[in-house]
Amino acid sequence: MTDSITIRRPDDWHLHLRDGAMLDAVAPHSARQFARAIIMPNLTPPVTTIAAARAYRERILAAVGGPEAGFTPLMTCYLTDGTDPAEIARGHAEGVFTACKLYPAHATTNSAHGVTDIRALTGVLETLQRIGMPLLIHGEVTDKSIDIFDREAVFVERTLAPLTRDYPGLKIVLEHITTAEAAAFVTEADHPIAATITPQHLLINRNALFDGGLRPHAYCLPVLKRETHRLAVRKAAVSGSPRFFLGTDSAPHVVGAKESGCGCAGIFNAPFALEAYLGVFDAEGAIDRFEGFASEHGARFYGLPLNEGTVTLVRESVMVPERVGEGDMSVVPFLAGTDAGWRFAG
Ligand code: DOR
Ligand code: ZN
Repeated sequence: MTDSITIRRPDDWHLHLRDGAMLDAVAPHSARQFARAIIMPNLTPPVTTIAAARAYRERILAAVGGPEAGFTPLMTCYLTDGTDPAEIARGHAEGVFTACKLYPAHATTNSAHGVTDIRALTGVLETLQRIGMPLLIHGEVTDKSIDIFDREAVFVERTLAPLTRDYPGLKIVLEHITTAEAAAFVTEADHPIAATITPQHLLINRNALFDGGLRPHAYCLPVLKRETHRLAVRKAAVSGSPRFFLGTDSAPHVVGAKESGCGCAGIFNAPFALEAYLGVFDAEGAIDRFEGFASEHGARFYGLPLNEGTVTLVRESVMVPERVGEGDMSVVPFLAGTDAGWRFAG
């Protein structure tokens, strides 16, 4: 049995750090485990300009303790119906924007300014394709007549498949995949496409939402799916395919915003992210593929260098606390009250 594993320093290819006091509270958890992270732009107001992204990047660096922390935030531009392709190209050329994020309008938290019709994005998509900049997609249809558990699979068929045909060179990351349909599409497409996978979609299924009562801390979007989908996503993650890589979608909300009559979507998994993923690879007998998933596939897809340095995890009993953070900024972490099974040794 492997009792200790050392891998190249990993990256988180999908992360919500928020702003203000919450940013200060949560960012150090990600900086502790990851060298870089793709930072989601769904602030209020969203990050839609180069100036806003530069300023947010500075606030993130301050929150982790400055450049000495060795953490690089990779910024994204929130697409709207009115995004100017020239702003994207300039932001990319200036090293501010690493990617663009497509939220279908009203698909999830702070997506009200998202895209109402992907056909409005022609100029932006042509630009991304031309300059080789990735499009990151929240892949769910927003049609209320579609069952919430089917919204990702319907998006793959209705929107993603035509998009790959119309823009054959467009680099796409389908974010936080949750279904067998998404895993199959990404595996098989004759297209430069990849997918991020969260710890929660590898570890729990939709039963967790109703386990002895309503469980707001298991609620995220895309919502957890049935067991067959979890198994398909797990298989993709541990397959060794370079198209699948780590993206936590860590999305903190204060306890009161989760435990509410209308609880927010989002699971805060940053504090024990690597432990959670490693537990999956261990259970699947795929520890030898963990480094590719955590530290190599994402960087290669984005065309970025692999990180220097390593991190080590040791098999040990470590209890995940019920709460992380102080007072108003207290958040319930993923796996609260359970044994993470591994200790992050730095
Ligand atoms: O669960 C989620 N939370 N899914 C998202 O897409 C957004 C995120 C958030 O920002 O809270
Ligand atoms: Zn997200």
